[in-house]
Amino acid sequence: MTTLPQLHQPHGEKIDLDDIVRIAAILAGRSESNVRLRGWLHNRRSSGGILFLTVRDGTGFLQCTAKRDQVGQDKFTEIETVPLESTVELEGQVARDERAPRGYELRITRFQTLHRSHEDFPIARKYHGPEFLLDNRHFWLRSKKMQTILRIRALFVEEARRWLKEHEYLEVQAPTLVSAAVEGGSTLFEVKYFDQKAYLTQSWQLYAEAMIASLGKIYTVAPSFRAEKSRTRRHLTEYWHLELEEPWLDLEGLIKVEEELVLHIAHQVAAQATEDLKDLGRDPKVLAELKGPLPRITYDKAVELIHSHDSSFSWGMDLGYEQEKILTANFTTPFFVTHYPKGVKAFYHMPDPQRPEVTLSVDMLAPEGYGEITGGGQRIHDYSQLMKRVEEEHLNPEQYSWYLDLRKYGTVPHSGFGMGVERTITWICKLKHIRDATAFPRLMNRIYP
Ligand code: 4AD
Ligand code: MG
Repeated sequence: MTTLPQLHQPHGEKIDLDDIVRIAAILAGRSESNVRLRGWLHNRRSSGGILFLTVRDGTGFLQCTAKRDQVGQDKFTEIETVPLESTVELEGQVARDERAPRGYELRITRFQTLHRSHEDFPIARKYHGPEFLLDNRHFWLRSKKMQTILRIRALFVEEARRWLKEHEYLEVQAPTLVSAAVEGGSTLFEVKYFDQKAYLTQSWQLYAEAMIASLGKIYTVAPSFRAEKSRTRRHLTEYWHLELEEPWLDLEGLIKVEEELVLHIAHQVAAQATEDLKDLGRDPKVLAELKGPLPRITYDKAVELIHSHDSSFSWGMDLGYEQEKILTANFTTPFFVTHYPKGVKAFYHMPDPQRPEVTLSVDMLAPEGYGEITGGGQRIHDYSQLMKRVEEEHLNPEQYSWYLDLRKYGTVPHSGFGMGVERTITWICKLKHIRDATAFPRLMNRIYP
């Protein structure tokens, strides 16, 4: 059994946890010059009789140096040989050093191993293939890359919530276990619900449409599920969905909401995570300099652009990854595609009164080949029009009875959209694959760890 020192009294004397400084504070130049910190031994090298350690504590990575004459021979040997990933407590002097990553290092005066890690930590300092790293996700999360992305992800959600609050949207939750499809049946996960069938939700939308008559402008940030059989760079089976619904809002208004929200998030991430973005290979300027109005094209125009590259594509077909990739080559910023045909959008989309074969729908596509990051539009608010669409799509009206009823009692023109959090992070952080935008990705062939 491993015995860890007590948290508050690691070596006999009483320590106030406030005495433990956070690496983020050191890197921000906000710490005392003599500090005590705790963390994990992330990396180690030796050069000219000095040991260079990288220690991380969950707030950042700090270069720490140990010299034999400072710590003594026995400690020096301990520091030199203690396995990576051991948990340690250090004391030392903070020094400004331009050669250290992010400009600061700790010159160690005291070193204590709190938990000696096993020697065989699976992730070594060498190339590992993606499947190996996914098998060892519980450890790969400790990597600089994953930490950086997950930190940006937290900032992303925080800034989204800030903007939504400032614009008076209320955060609301809807169930995950549902009885009917929102986005068509093909991507539903079925679950046994006592002696009934239930599904994992694809979207909060139908419930949101009920809740706007109670609460007005609302949003949620919640998991959605898609039984996607596609193994692509942009599909998860479980993803986080930022969805918004608003009464008295039409397609035009919706596009403005999406644009302002996305620009706010992009600008704030660029300003607050500048160095992190650079570490990931994303030039923060690209995000900082985005400004509205973002370009718009109709689905008709999109078909023209695609057709000149791919003659097998014709009007009425849905845009897949390959088609969106062609479209994104025409833009350097996110852009909107509007007025998709009725046939490629879910039943609730409002047909354009001027041209009923297309809908008042809009997707936002991210540039650089990333493609769709949001989907939404104006909803049908008329009872008989909605009933007609339910029938045309061969849906069972009984399953949607409560949803149809909303159109009978105080119906209102309304619109909403859903943004894939991981899709958007993938673009913001310039990632190659959506799996890295989430801690434990759920993919068609992976539900472990
Ligand atoms: O376009 P979708 O299917 O639209 C809806 O679900 C609407 N009911 C949303 C609404 O209007 N409230 O999904 C919305 C977004 C997509 O644009 C995409 O960003 C993301 O959800 N998404 C996925 N993200 C990761 N993996 C998947 N398998 C995804 N499927 C959709
Ligand atoms: Mg979509």
